Amino acid sequence: MKKRVAIFISGGGSNMVRLVEDMANADHPAEPVLVLANDAGAGGLKKAAELGVATAVVDHRPFNGDRPAFERALQGELDRARPDILCLAGFMRVLTEGFVGPWNGRMLNIHPSLLPKYKGLHTHARALEAGDREHGCTVHLVTPALDDGPILGQARVNVRADDTPDSLAARVLEREHKLYPAVLRRFAAGDPTPVFM
Ligand code: GRF
Repeated sequence: MKKRVAIFISGGGSNMVRLVEDMANADHPAEPVLVLANDAGAGGLKKAAELGVATAVVDHRPFNGDRPAFERALQGELDRARPDILCLAGFMRVLTEGFVGPWNGRMLNIHPSLLPKYKGLHTHARALEAGDREHGCTVHLVTPALDDGPILGQARVNVRADDTPDSLAARVLEREHKLYPAVLRRFAAGDPTPVFM
């Protein structure tokens, strides 16, 4: 039986697309069962539908900051899709301990920095400001602390003297598209060995 994977997105979903495309291979130990966005305008929803994956929208705005109520709606969609694994991919909402707890050990996220460096936002600008020679991305298990869980994989890029946050982000995103599918394959197969690229 393949592991059932739900993917949360907020925008274009480029990481989601790579995960879904890789799971289309017969030898992959997992299959996509849901792509959920917190914004009906998320471009990734159309891409997911074109790839034949069920989609759902749970807009966070009507909940007016009531995170537990928003997360109950998220969990309602997951109760229907029955995933074994939850992948956050460009999902821009912070999830509380109440939601994350029951998913402990089964929820992955990709973050555009070499964690534990640069948790939070604006990671590329911060790496440039710090004069880092290397930067990259990390896939980690999600815990209640933001961008803080056990590392499942990392991919590195060299920082160039003429890099801007945008040029660096573009190179990191290319590596994300390789790293996340590789990590999900191993994780879904039950292999905890981290992936380093
Ligand atoms: C990526 O930089 C990813 O690291 C971050 O969200 C950004 C957009 O991802 N989590 P995607 O194109 O929506 O997958």
